[in-house]
Amino acid sequence: MDAQVRNRYMQAMGIPVWMPKDSRVQEEVGEVQEVVPDIKRPPPSPIPVSFDCSYMDWQQLRTAVQSCARCDISKTRTQTVFGAGNQQAPWMVIGEAPGAEEDRQGEPFVGKAGQLLNNMLLAIGMPRETVYIANVLKCRPPNNRDPKPDEAANCRGYLERQIELVNPSLILVVGRIAAQNLLQTTEPLARLRLKQHLAPLSGKPVVVTYHPAYLLRQPADKRKAWQDLLFAREVFSQYASTPH
Ligand code: URA
Repeated sequence: MDAQVRNRYMQAMGIPVWMPKDSRVQEEVGEVQEVVPDIKRPPPSPIPVSFDCSYMDWQQLRTAVQSCARCDISKTRTQTVFGAGNQQAPWMVIGEAPGAEEDRQGEPFVGKAGQLLNNMLLAIGMPRETVYIANVLKCRPPNNRDPKPDEAANCRGYLERQIELVNPSLILVVGRIAAQNLLQTTEPLARLRLKQHLAPLSGKPVVVTYHPAYLLRQPADKRKAWQDLLFAREVFSQYASTPH
């Protein structure tokens, strides 16, 4: 990507572009471009999916989610937040759970964090309308608390079916909670970044980055998020050019 285009993208993410060439962060960004992801194929892994959605088409899945009452949080939701975007997307973005604004509007990532996510996606050349966005949970947990393990397990089948239907070439997971849930790990985010993981059931390549809500609180880490996005693009281009 030429420097002017990259600068425009970085501005869209709110990253100042006037840094001296020899700054540490630019070195970090440079390093990322040298990371050559190693695409592997996983054996299917036994993730507990509490019920079978694997036969459902989009409409059946949406209806199943809308009427879901498996967890207590179904009682406090305004509405379910199914997911949104390009159903044939090359990239799928997975977040944690709807917040207050998403619960009101029925769409993922529409609050302030969503605006930053849009800019991050634009920055890497994958505008929001080109990707598919979903969450680990389809209902808002009260007071935006973390998802409980049984809630994530109850929703897992919906998410797995969404991944299967979209069939993306890359899954970008935003935030520790979403990453730990999707990858079934307890590793901290710092250890999950800048590595190519494989989604347990689908075997799709997964790249992990910071949650945009965290980046709003810690804007200094936007530079690391940019590193993650460059890495994601590298993984994507390798995977997309590999027969599978
Ligand atoms: N945070 C998330 O993880 N998902 C949303 O949809 C909104 C905020």
